Amino acid sequence: MNEPEKNESRRSFLVKLSTSLAALSAVVASVPVLSSFFAPLLEKTPQVWRNVGELSKFKVGDTTLVQFQNADPEAWAGVTAHTAAWLRRDSEKSFTAFSANCTHLGCPVRWEKDAELFMCPCHGGVYYKDGSVAAGPPPKSLVRYKVRINKNQVEIQTSPVPITSISA
Ligand code: FES
Repeated sequence: MNEPEKNESRRSFLVKLSTSLAALSAVVASVPVLSSFFAPLLEKTPQVWRNVGELSKFKVGDTTLVQFQNADPEAWAGVTAHTAAWLRRDSEKSFTAFSANCTHLGCPVRWEKDAELFMCPCHGGVYYKDGSVAAGPPPKSLVRYKVRINKNQVEIQTSPVPITSISA
């Protein structure tokens, strides 16, 4: 092999090497982006029915704060493994449950019975009785939980961090 052929061979090798390294870098750099893109498809959202009390404990028309354990509590979570919902008994056999967390930044909302509004103390968010936004910065309605009656017990279906991601 003469000198020009060696140079050409070396150049060709270096071009292939740099192309391969660039391709490898692109693959490595895209892993976090791709994994975050596909994560919702790959993760199975744990949803568990939690008992929040006997049916007779809730009066028709009342909206009551209930607390229950998250779907997937960590052993170290302590009180943070619990969450809350506003549970309304609409009729003898039906309930509506709203997340107690504001959809703006997650502060706990309170139910104002006389005004029939949910109020958020943090930035003045206000929700109507049906959970839709009445005023303030919340971007969307209060998240709803599914509710069922199981052998005279009221149960709420939990989901992780119900601030912005689920609806009934
Ligand atoms: S957290 Fe409720 S209005 Fe901001």
